[in-house]
Amino acid sequence: MNLCSILCFALSAAALTLDIASSGGNQSSPLLYGLLYEDIYHSGDGGLYGEMLRNRAFQGSSSGGAASLARNTDYWHPIGSVSLAIDTSAPVVSSTLPYHMRMDVPAGTTGTVGFYNEGFWGFDVDATKRYIASLWMRGNYSGTVDCYFSSNTTGQMLGSSSMSIDQTSLAGWVQSYSATFQPSKTAPDGNNTFYFTFDGSKLAGQSVYFNILSLFKQTFDNRLNGVREDLADALVNMNHKYIRLPGGNNMEGNNSPYEWKWNETIGPLTDRPGRPGTWGDINTDGFGLLEMMQMAQDLGLEVILGIWTGLYLDGEVVSEANLQPYVDSVMDELEFLLGDKSTTYGAKRAALGFPSPFTINWIEIGNEDYLNGGTSSYYSYRYMAFYDALHAVYPSINLVSTINPNPVTSNGSSLDLHIYGNENYFVSLFNTFDQASREYPVFVNEYAATNTGSNNAGQVGAQTMGTSCAEAIFLLGCERNSDVIVGSAYGALIKNYNEAPDTVAVIKHTANEVLYSISYYVQKLFADNMGKRTLPVNATDGELGPVYWSATANSSSTILKLVNYNGKTGSSNAVQVNVKGSSKNIATLITLTAPGSTSVNSLPSLGGESTTITTTSLSGSAGSFSVSFGNSYEIAILVV
Ligand SMILES: *[C@@H]1O[C@H](CO)[C@@H](O)[C@H](O)[C@H]1NC(C)=O
Ligand SMILES: *[C@@H]1O[C@H](CO)[C@@H](O)[C@H](O)[C@H]1NC(C)=O
Ligand SMILES: *[C@@H]1O[C@H](CO)[C@@H](O)[C@H](O)[C@H]1NC(C)=O
Ligand SMILES: *[C@@H]1O[C@H](CO)[C@@H](O)[C@H](O)[C@H]1NC(C)=O
Ligand SMILES: *[C@@H]1O[C@H](CO)[C@@H](O)[C@H](O)[C@H]1NC(C)=O
Ligand SMILES: *[C@@H]1O[C@H](CO)[C@@H](O)[C@H](O)[C@H]1NC(C)=O
Ligand SMILES: *[C@@H]1O[C@H](CO)[C@@H](O)[C@H](O)[C@H]1NC(C)=O
Ligand SMILES: *[C@@H]1O[C@H](CO)[C@@H](O)[C@H](O)[C@H]1NC(C)=O
Repeated sequence: MNLCSILCFALSAAALTLDIASSGGNQSSPLLYGLLYEDIYHSGDGGLYGEMLRNRAFQGSSSGGAASLARNTDYWHPIGSVSLAIDTSAPVVSSTLPYHMRMDVPAGTTGTVGFYNEGFWGFDVDATKRYIASLWMRGNYSGTVDCYFSSNTTGQMLGSSSMSIDQTSLAGWVQSYSATFQPSKTAPDGNNTFYFTFDGSKLAGQSVYFNILSLFKQTFDNRLNGVREDLADALVNMNHKYIRLPGGNNMEGNNSPYEWKWNETIGPLTDRPGRPGTWGDINTDGFGLLEMMQMAQDLGLEVILGIWTGLYLDGEVVSEANLQPYVDSVMDELEFLLGDKSTTYGAKRAALGFPSPFTINWIEIGNEDYLNGGTSSYYSYRYMAFYDALHAVYPSINLVSTINPNPVTSNGSSLDLHIYGNENYFVSLFNTFDQASREYPVFVNEYAATNTGSNNAGQVGAQTMGTSCAEAIFLLGCERNSDVIVGSAYGALIKNYNEAPDTVAVIKHTANEVLYSISYYVQKLFADNMGKRTLPVNATDGELGPVYWSATANSSSTILKLVNYNGKTGSSNAVQVNVKGSSKNIATLITLTAPGSTSVNSLPSLGGESTTITTTSLSGSAGSFSVSFGNSYEIAILVV
């Protein structure tokens, strides 16, 4: 026996070897990585939606974690000797918004009076950005309204702007804008309030009325009524391909008649009543259908439009006899989005500033229609009622069912599976799609590994390196089978960091910071390095686990994704990778690491990120490379 054969045997026995074929795989779905938007825990109001004032139009409230139509002046506080109260006296700003705030100013008042708003756990005050404040007011006032931020931390006023108002109560409701202003100073943190103040002597002995008070910071792409720039940037950087909107359980409504209604989220803000949301808060619907579509367009995302199909979350189902108006409403919505200006609703869209029709290639018929007894009505009439109406008018739109098996298996029908579970469960899903039926395409439009313990132990507040690697293993299975898995989206996408419950989300925000979870980086790296077709891989001296993989290729590169899940480290345990037919001697290796399986990412002000992403050049020979892990939990992407 010569020396070489001993060494070669020793080497090949020591480590996993992956031989990647150059052909023989399937087309990958171009949509593989997507997003789910629904207003959950301030994803919309107080999140993506740029409005900074909370309870701006007195549309309802939240107490004990449940949204209600009880009106109050929560988040508003009086300044000076005035009192604030909800009022419904005529005239109202619109029949849609019949509640407003009354400020009673005692006789003999002098000095400054007014109110401040707490925002959504504070405000971002950034001296490099433009802000615009506005309000609707009824009553006699001839003077200025000073608008400014104040820091709770330093007690300082951070820039002010004023509106001139000269009106009497005879004028009814008048809208006033402050000029666009920039704060004089950036605040040290998000702990700020926003003030509107008046000359008390000019209001002494009077009551004046307010509604739709508003403050926007400069938005993404400078859209009017647009979205928060830093959060939109975070989404752009994920490099994902689609967004499913408007949800999600929030679309369904807790009970009748509070489903999301597209026609009550469009047009002037005075025409949007808002509704009690599913996740504990009132939805202003300021972030309405057109704002969502505009955002999708600005972010370059394909839209999967969710439509409501007759199931409320309390289990009430619209009967077959009463379903038609809801079908009609969806058809009107489609005409609104897709019709040209000669159609009734297309003309309405054009009148609202969107002359060109949008593009919709996917519609999801409902959301989790198996909940609370919804299954039988979904199969017996709800799905087909919407399917038939939509398919007849829009035969090229792909229709997605929310219950497995899909009621219809032809004509662009697909299925949306939602998968939540603990870390071990997600690891166990590594091969779940390998033998899946190819009868119809599947989305996983909601997934998350929500716990490191048992499946029933609730959600951990932050994804760990362990749960994120488990999700990555699951995504490798989606990618390896992306002939049948069309897309995947994490639930939830965005939540406010301060709001209970502390659940997982791709990103979390405070007034002035963004927390990028480890899952965020997994998804971004996977989407950034997505091939156009899958490649078969042969493994020697090992199998899937503790190292998991998927190989894809585009026209110029072979891309191998590896997840080390509680595996070995160091060069003696390196994975030997051979890319068949490649003559390349240099590859790029991208790794995502964290110190341990329980590492988490935090807000910048609370310690920052535990993860590190490195990109290095790796030398090899004629398509053969040796990839060693530095950590027992690590993600490595080899681009050859
Ligand atoms: C994988 O194994 C099969 C069966 O032995 C073989 O036909 C094929 O060529 C191998 N592919 C690669 C890339 O080594
Ligand atoms: C391609 O898809 C078929 C099923 O249609 C599957 O059996 C096969 O394993 C897939 N090939 C690869 C490389 O994933
Ligand atoms: C700032 O202080 C005011 C007055 O105490 C309070 O109403 C507000 O909630 C505080 N803001 C934050 C973000 O804590
Ligand atoms: C804001 O500052 C006040 C004191 O100035 C403090 O009581 C409060 O907890 C702070 N709020 C936040 C959200 O940091
Ligand atoms: C407001 O002004 C109008 C017109 O000048 C006057 O008729 C009315 O009495 C005033 N209201 C109050 C409360 O002062
Ligand atoms: C919106 O459509 C629903 C039917 O889905 C209808 O009940 C409601 O009255 C409409 N709202 C408006 C403002 O037209
Ligand atoms: C599928 O489309 C074809 C052609 O348009 C039509 O004949 C058939 O009825 C459709 N099937 C279903 C289930 O809608
Ligand atoms: C192929 O994928 C690699 C890795 O993501 C990327 O750097 C390269 O630009 C892609 N090439 C093409 C032609 O898309």
